[in-house]
Amino acid sequence: KGDPRLQGISEAIRVVPHFPKQGIMFQDITTLLLDHKAFKDTVDIFVDRYRDMDISVVAGVEARGFMFGPAIALAVGAKFVPLRKPRKLPGEVISEAYELEYGTDCLEIHVGAVQPGERAIVIDDLVATGGTLSAAIRLLERVGAEVVECACVVGLRDVKGQSRLNGKPLYILVEPR
Ligand code: PRP
Repeated sequence: KGDPRLQGISEAIRVVPHFPKQGIMFQDITTLLLDHKAFKDTVDIFVDRYRDMDISVVAGVEARGFMFGPAIALAVGAKFVPLRKPRKLPGEVISEAYELEYGTDCLEIHVGAVQPGERAIVIDDLVATGGTLSAAIRLLERVGAEVVECACVVGLRDVKGQSRLNGKPLYILVEPR
């Protein structure tokens, strides 16, 4: 893709080798948040994509989806819905488990946060195996939302620049370095 902002976004993400463990090239988006232009460009690209798509729900995945989702939600005129790790939300929740390298984790959503038929996007900083985003899609579909797309700052794109997850489009800005 030819968007000249993408190189600056990619370069603003710090790569930390062997964090949190040996062999992992950690993609640290906290340095992107420190760079006003790169942070604003990131939010603007998502906002330009989703503003005329009749989105009423921006769902952010804990923890780093919370750093991008609210800005996008405000700009497109949608609500922000946090998808949280277990035992963080105080109200009635539904849960979806997903596989980790060792064991499982789960995401939860407040019952009543989303109404049936609402059009949602899911935002996170990074997609690796896709397990987390798949759980997010299942949660939103269980409460009756239509998941229009998942959006990530960092991930592997396929040859055409678009990927899919659970049959849903996956929109990625930059590849890991
Ligand atoms: C990271 C990242 C995504 C997820 C992607 O979160 O922010 O949410 O992993 O991995 P996947 O595509 O293989 O599922 P992490 O599990 O480190 O949780 P945290 O944001 O709460 O630290």
